[in-house]
Amino acid sequence: MTSILILNGPNLNLLGTRQPEVYGHTTLADIEAACHAHAKGAGITVSCAQSNHEGVLVDEIHAAKGCHDGIILNAGAYTHTSVALRDAIASVEVPTIELHLSNIHAREAFRHVSHIAPVAIGQICGFGAQGYLLALDAMVAHLQGAR
Ligand code: DQA
Repeated sequence: MTSILILNGPNLNLLGTRQPEVYGHTTLADIEAACHAHAKGAGITVSCAQSNHEGVLVDEIHAAKGCHDGIILNAGAYTHTSVALRDAIASVEVPTIELHLSNIHAREAFRHVSHIAPVAIGQICGFGAQGYLLALDAMVAHLQGAR
């Protein structure tokens, strides 16, 4: 069965209370529950992980190789700073979708730079929590096309 890792980076554990005017009121637990329900309907499985630590996220990406068919990654602020995350994604060759709740391109200039985008199969941003479900559908379609 197709298996997808949903990986969230720093400060995303605070969703629901963190700047709700930017990120909404939905908690990470709500998002993960919605992803599990959506996956069940699509006949796939998802695993969810979150860390505030760059190296732990690198380890999660390494562990995805041979274990998951795709990664949906909201790397949070590490998106804009982390060559290590970019290199990890390039190294494991597991198709990865870059995800953001907010539209990073409509925000501060430093958020317009993504180290993840060049190694991702695509980017979804600006659709809030719904973006995770859009990313799941996009990943399933990508994997079906790839087979
Ligand atoms: C974010 C956007 C990033 O710029 C920010 O640092 C985050 C959240 C988003 O989901 O919109 O932590 O990845």
